[in-house]
Amino acid sequence: MKRIVVTGALGQIGSDLVFQLRQLYGEDAVLATDIRNNQSEVVLSGPFHLLDVTDGQAFFNLVRTHQADTIIHLAALLSAKAEDNPLQAWQLNMGGLLNALEVARERSCQFFTPSSIASFGHSTPKEATPQNTMQRPATMYGVSKVAGELLCDYYFHKFGLDTRGLRFPGLVSHTSPPGGGTTDYAVDMYLKAARGESYTSYISEGTFLDMMYMPDAIQAVIQLMETDAAKLIHRNAFNVSAMSVDPEMIAVSIRRHVPDFILSYESDPIRQKIAEEWPNAIDTSAARTEWNFQTKFNLDQMTDDMLSHLA
Ligand SMILES: NC(=O)c1ccc[n+]([C@@H]2O[C@H](COP(=O)([O-])OP(=O)(O)OC[C@H]3O[C@@H](n4cnc5c(N)ncnc54)[C@H](O)[C@@H]3O)[C@@H](O)[C@H]2O)c1
Repeated sequence: MKRIVVTGALGQIGSDLVFQLRQLYGEDAVLATDIRNNQSEVVLSGPFHLLDVTDGQAFFNLVRTHQADTIIHLAALLSAKAEDNPLQAWQLNMGGLLNALEVARERSCQFFTPSSIASFGHSTPKEATPQNTMQRPATMYGVSKVAGELLCDYYFHKFGLDTRGLRFPGLVSHTSPPGGGTTDYAVDMYLKAARGESYTSYISEGTFLDMMYMPDAIQAVIQLMETDAAKLIHRNAFNVSAMSVDPEMIAVSIRRHVPDFILSYESDPIRQKIAEEWPNAIDTSAARTEWNFQTKFNLDQMTDDMLSHLA
């Protein structure tokens, strides 16, 4: 039976992932951890423990006590917040990851951590961005994600640790608020539309970014973790995405339900600059070939589901 420890479990991804993992492997099998406690469903529906991932000893003790065979490491500072506080971002994103990998090595755990489309940069091809390509990001978040991808590869090659990862695009979810990323505007737009309000986008018209609906992202994590290791060539940081969209496309999709929804623009220079560094549309063929990555939600299906839950 699987025994899993999840870090950063109260965040946007963790809130949905912990729920799915508990459905699959049993409530007691999944220990959710975070630096904070918010008495949410994640805390109340199974084991929960406070954990600051920069405390390596506390991390080790929890994984040992839970007798975990799997670590899913989600604790990180996201793109927009990381640009506000680059030093803290480096310390959390790299220090936390190094601790997580060391604990996984010492306890022989299978390991998952997400990378991001932020690991690409200006010199990366913007269309059909290949799995293996130039990665020279200019943000601290992006720097930490490229370094993290390499560190996970290193632990696999050097120690034989079963490390796996996905390069997530912007994730859209109705269950938990986003944590300070650049693609948060999409979730904000749905929230406003559901309340009958207009929305002012901080990302400019015509700025295309990859996105994916949270249920597809959760399914991708579980599927990648369950794939026979022998099939994986690109272990850490598979490109995954469901759609390439700009704010207007989301508004058009919303107007099928809320015809008078108004979208206007007031670009935020910091987040717009980050968005312009990222690809327009990434190529996901490695994930499709190596472990049969698929998505169920296109833009309109995501919109239908988001608005039905937020209504
Ligand atoms: N959400 C996205 O769109 C997206 C896209 C690409 C990659 N990712 C990656 O997925 C992972 C999870 O993202 P998310 O959206 O759930 O993030 P989030 O910001 O919503 O959640 C992060 C969680 O980490 C916790 N945390 C912060 N400092 C901590 C510490 N020192 N110790 C333990 N926990 C701490 C926070 O309390 C929070 O609950 C991150 O690695 C992120 O870079 C997310």
